[in-house]
Amino acid sequence: MLKIAVLISGSGSNLQSIIDAVNSKELQCEISFVISDKNNAFGIERAEKNGIKTYIFDKKEYKEKLSDTILSVIENKVDFIVLAGFLSILRGDILKKFEGRIINIHPSLIPSFCGNGMYGIKVHEAAIESGVKVSGCTVHFVDEGTDSGPIILQRTVPVYYEDTAEMLQKRVLIEEHIALPTALKLISEHKVELNNNKVKILK
Ligand code: GRF
Repeated sequence: MLKIAVLISGSGSNLQSIIDAVNSKELQCEISFVISDKNNAFGIERAEKNGIKTYIFDKKEYKEKLSDTILSVIENKVDFIVLAGFLSILRGDILKKFEGRIINIHPSLIPSFCGNGMYGIKVHEAAIESGVKVSGCTVHFVDEGTDSGPIILQRTVPVYYEDTAEMLQKRVLIEEHIALPTALKLISEHKVELNNNKVKILK
């Protein structure tokens, strides 16, 4: 059974999509830990309601010790780390020890509208501003960069002329809630192959 730690910073709706997939038996995996870098993340409540072990390591308090602190909790206890709306950047040993075993969901079609400072509503504001007609979300492996690791899967949405950033954000979030559990299911079934930084999804 795939054991995962889910890292969050906010409402945790992506975490909820994983919880729902596990509870409905669509996804064979164990959410061993939910860890937040912010004190008031509603996702912690979602985890507690489902009996999942939680930790809060406030990034303002832990600062550069955050990544090593998270590693000390999860090392040798989980197979994969899932970043689900996690706004801190993981650094140091955790990236080495979990190389090829950390995934993130980003609310755009990487490599568009991503990288430093591109998170939350800012992503959708940039998409609207640029006039793209299609946006969406990306699940990707995490490397030492920001939103730069090999892409596992993407889901698209149309962008309409009348869209506000909030309207687009809502449309993309629906697809995120499908994309993340789908990617985890593929991983749990060993159907995700990484060759020379490119992902092959096995049938
Ligand atoms: C999502 O849009 C995700 O793509 C981005 O941050 C948002 C988090 O939402 N990384 P939630 O906390 O999962 O509801």
